Amino acid sequence: MKKHTTLILVGIIVVLAAGLIGVLIYLKNQPPQTRGFQPLVEIAAQEPDSSKWGVNFPNEYATLLLTATNKTDTTYGGSSGFSNLERDPRQVILFAGYGFGRDYNDERGHMNSLIDVRATKRVNEQTPGTCYSCKSADNPSLWNEMGMVEYDRMPFSELGKRIEQPNGCANCHETGTMRLIVTNPALEEALVAQGKDWRTFSRQEMRTVVCANCHVEYYFAGEGKYLTFPWADGTRIENIIAYYDALSFSDWKYPDTDTAMLKAQHPEYEFYTAASTHYNAGVSCADCHMPYVRDGAMKFSSHDVKSPLLEPELACGQCHTDVDYAIGRVKTIQDEIYKTKLATEDAIIDAITAIQAAVKVSDVDPVLLEEARTLHRHAQMRWDFISAENSMGFHNPEEALRILADAINLARQAQMKAAQAAHAPSLLNIGVYDGMHPKPVPAP
Ligand code: HEC
Ligand code: HEC
Ligand code: HEC
Ligand code: HEC
Repeated sequence: MKKHTTLILVGIIVVLAAGLIGVLIYLKNQPPQTRGFQPLVEIAAQEPDSSKWGVNFPNEYATLLLTATNKTDTTYGGSSGFSNLERDPRQVILFAGYGFGRDYNDERGHMNSLIDVRATKRVNEQTPGTCYSCKSADNPSLWNEMGMVEYDRMPFSELGKRIEQPNGCANCHETGTMRLIVTNPALEEALVAQGKDWRTFSRQEMRTVVCANCHVEYYFAGEGKYLTFPWADGTRIENIIAYYDALSFSDWKYPDTDTAMLKAQHPEYEFYTAASTHYNAGVSCADCHMPYVRDGAMKFSSHDVKSPLLEPELACGQCHTDVDYAIGRVKTIQDEIYKTKLATEDAIIDAITAIQAAVKVSDVDPVLLEEARTLHRHAQMRWDFISAENSMGFHNPEEALRILADAINLARQAQMKAAQAAHAPSLLNIGVYDGMHPKPVPAP
């Protein structure tokens, strides 16, 4: 009896072992798992038309299309394209004499990029072609064909004849491999200037760097309006201001004070990567803005890029078990930063008012006056770095408060210098914004 039981047991073990080996050999000989569909059609290199890529990748394409019609707003962000100037009329004063003081709307979804850049009243006869650089999937093939020097040199209206597509697949992916790539030559050059080669970056790093093709601070260098990221000295706000100061670069002159001003663009990448908690933890832009979603058994990245607050279970729930707590923290952080941002605006407006008055004083001290101007320039660029960044501080709360604290300090110093320059303590009046409710000035 005993012998029989042993034999049966050995038999069972042998059969199970053989089965396991069979399964392992079968698995080993399976083709490597590919995510997404097997290509149905060949896509030309740098194909501008996303609908052609969509044949192979219908889920990614269908979700990209959703960005065209997103309209929902959150407390501070969202997709309706509301007017920043109507929401916060202080900005009409802060951008006086400049296009942003006339027309400045919140950003919308990726598929609107072309419509919106063509609609803004900031575009005029002098606008260079460079303004199309982060607005179209035609760019990678145009840069390839004519080079960025030629592209940037063309007037906006002239270049526009060759541009038909809004942002799409070709801005982020290489055809064939579908890997994420740097498509904007200005990003390639800015990374090289820092001794970095994106081709050596990990996949997780590329899930952030691919957004830096567009979501960055930039300026147009020289007569040719050559698209340049001011990163040669680093990507912190202090590095960026030092870079512009060394070039004596300015975006516009502030009216009646003659201050050489700087305008921040949309420095999400620089702000997020400045040692934020999430960045230090290895979290990427795509983790929050392009969460995985399911189509039956298929998992794919949502290309419906928008505010993560509109779908926090997907965007935050992959890592945070208590999503309500996480969202509550966002509200606390954003409310705090918004309040501090408005206090900074009040301080800068007090400084501007004082400098405008000092300029008119006949025996004003020119050296102190110039110091006041420089302080205003530096304060306002710091404020704008946080204001133009689109997360109301959430991407890096500590950095936002640090920068705004510096901005308030510099703005108050600017006001004091102006009062000193004009020998006029009355210029130390604070809270002059109260009672002024400027409306956006219509385009000329
Ligand atoms: C940890 C999650 C997280 C990461 C990582 C992250 N974001 Fe965000 N992002 C948010 C949240 C939350 C908001 C605020 C949305 C709001 O106020 O409606 C936001 C706002 C934005 C907005 C404005 C959206 C709107 O509706 O106005 C943009 C643009 C943006 N992020 C781009 C980026 C880029 C580019 C990166 C990487 C450099 C990045 N984000 C990294 C969570 C994240
Ligand atoms: C704004 C940049 C961007 C654009 C535009 C874009 N993608 Fe992606 N795509 C990504 C990112 C980021 C990922 C995640 C890649 C990873 O995890 O390695 C991704 C992933 C993918 C994947 C891998 C499978 C998946 O869903 O994770 C496919 C396939 C894909 N995209 C197709 C497309 C197609 C087709 C288009 C145009 C209709 C497109 N993408 C437009 C950024 C973009
Ligand atoms: C080719 C340039 C380009 C790239 C690459 C790009 N964006 Fe954008 N993004 C834009 C532009 C331009 C807008 C504003 C479009 C408008 O207002 O019409 C925008 C808008 C957004 C918004 C606001 C959407 C809304 O509904 O308000 C978010 C969020 C965003 N981008 C996140 C990202 C993230 C995350 C990445 C990287 C995965 C990325 N973007 C890559 C150019 C780009
Ligand atoms: C890919 C994973 C991941 C995603 C997605 C993610 N987080 Fe986080 N989050 C982290 C990690 C990791 C930390 C750091 C935890 C720590 O150090 O204790 C963190 C920290 C935080 C903190 C605390 C930061 C602080 O300094 O107080 C908040 C608040 C937060 N996340 C909110 C969010 C929100 C809101 C979203 C969605 C928009 C989100 N997170 C998406 C991984 C993630």
